[in-house]
Amino acid sequence: MAGSGVAHMRPESDPVLSVDQMVVEFPVGRGQKVHAVSGMNIDLLPGETLGILGESGCGKSSAGRAIMQEPSPTSGTVRLLDHELTGLKIKPLRKARSRMQMIMQDPVSSLNPRRRVRDLVAEGLAIWGYDGDDMDASIRETLTAVGLDPDAVWDRRPHELSGGQCQRVCIARALMMNPDVLICDEPVSALDVSVQAQILNLLERTKEKYDLSMIFIAHDVSVVKNISDRVMVLYLGKTCEVLPSQGMQTRALHPYTRTLIASIPGGEQAFSSDDPVAGDLVEEKPRSAATTELPSPLNPPSGCRFRTRCPLATEQCAAEEPQLREVGQGHFIACHNVATGIV
Ligand SMILES: Nc1ncnc2c1ncn2[C@@H]1O[C@H](COP(=O)(O)OP(=O)(O)OP(=O)(O)O)[C@@H](O)[C@H]1O
Ligand SMILES: [Mg+2]
Repeated sequence: MAGSGVAHMRPESDPVLSVDQMVVEFPVGRGQKVHAVSGMNIDLLPGETLGILGESGCGKSSAGRAIMQEPSPTSGTVRLLDHELTGLKIKPLRKARSRMQMIMQDPVSSLNPRRRVRDLVAEGLAIWGYDGDDMDASIRETLTAVGLDPDAVWDRRPHELSGGQCQRVCIARALMMNPDVLICDEPVSALDVSVQAQILNLLERTKEKYDLSMIFIAHDVSVVKNISDRVMVLYLGKTCEVLPSQGMQTRALHPYTRTLIASIPGGEQAFSSDDPVAGDLVEEKPRSAATTELPSPLNPPSGCRFRTRCPLATEQCAAEEPQLREVGQGHFIACHNVATGIV
């Protein structure tokens, strides 16, 4: 999907998290609404990391928040382990949802500025009324696990920490809840490059140690491909392509995914210049999606939503929404032109 479909779902598997036909819309007055996410389907298996990739405004954070039910999606279902979350009232929802934690895009503003590190890390458990004798010991252990010295940061408030330290506190807070699923919404985009690498390493180590399944949201191809097992590429609320992260730079087929890859330094070298898609993208960069505006999510294009920026668009793309279809092992794409053999 910059079309629709469920071809990428794995019905024989037992996912920790399944998202079915999730739609997120925001009414904005005069009968208009923002179509932020339009029919998303996800099955996240135990221990798996799914990367969600797309440019700014394509609906990544809206999807992450809707999975967390903050707020609930407009329609569709979200199932976490044995619980269908979308129909739950606030108390049972809080309980069921505690197994899933989200790390937000901006680490500093996601922490209450008046609270100290000790309380910030304990907050989730405190909401449940838990403040056992072993609480301080677990906070210390978790702070140490995320690379913070408990004695040094214990009484500090967020403004007394660096951005990287704040993100470590956010990760510690999430881990205190012993989650099965961690949703990371651009957890490193607000940090400088050297700290980004430290936090990404920390997330990978943490995932192994705590046996987590992870959704990792980012707009940066190089970050997503390194940390993920599979990558879902999102365009204007629709899924364009789902593919294994390994080798994705050369394997990607959807013109939008190729545009994203071609726009990173050295990315255009992933495709040869006689490749019909990449050739267009590389030679006609000024016309390519990387340099033009995303269409309005109030009134998305008919058919394939990517067609207005796609070098391969035909009349069929305006008339018909492409369905996801399998084009290789674990590789799915929603594009009429790939389907008709142009690529
Ligand atoms: N509460 C809201 N009310 C109205 N529109 C919203 C709301 N939240 C998000 N949107 C719109 O929904 C669309 C998707 O936004 P979202 O924040 O999910 O994008 P994103 O992919 O996370 O972008 P970024 O990479 O910049 O974080 C955008 O057009 C945004 O303006
Ligand atoms: Mg976002």
